[in-house]
Amino acid sequence: MKTIIICASTHHGNTRKLVDAIVAKHPDIEVVDSTKETSRDLSGYDLIGFASGIYGANFHPSIVKFAKENLPEDKKIFYISTAAMDKDFSKSMAGAVGGKNTRIVGYYHCQGYNTFGPFKLIGGTAKGKPDAQDIQNAVDFYDRISKI
Ligand SMILES: Cc1cc2nc3c(=O)[nH]c(=O)nc-3n(C[C@H](O)[C@H](O)[C@H](O)COP(=O)(O)O)c2cc1C
Repeated sequence: MKTIIICASTHHGNTRKLVDAIVAKHPDIEVVDSTKETSRDLSGYDLIGFASGIYGANFHPSIVKFAKENLPEDKKIFYISTAAMDKDFSKSMAGAVGGKNTRIVGYYHCQGYNTFGPFKLIGGTAKGKPDAQDIQNAVDFYDRISKI
């Protein structure tokens, strides 16, 4: 099983904490920071993850662009995201992965500390998130979907 995770975590590194914990348990996983690297040959990977903070209700623009330009046909993929709100933001990836016979095997989302705009004035929201349990849940999520 060859896995790669494309990650963008620009606000507080919240999403990266989840990815780092998964990689700590599975050191063979490769990670690409899509804010620094715009292309990679993904044809040799069995499982491709897209991990992102949520900005304006969307996955990071660099992740969307990366998926659009680099995701080959017929791949198994998964999503990880963190946001101030606890809700499903995966639809923002639909245009980028659609039409490629992609199989989405899972989505993990949890809250992440947010100090965007006016929230900074009140000390931020979702303080302390992701917490140890969120991080463990992300590792358990990967363990589960990597067997699918
Ligand atoms: C510019 C910006 C826009 C954001 N927009 C949203 C949003 O639409 N919905 C939401 O729930 N959180 C939003 N957030 C909060 C982030 O999604 C949250 O803090 C996330 O954990 C950041 O992940 P990161 O540290 O990996 O970048 C926004 C944060 C920033 C900086």
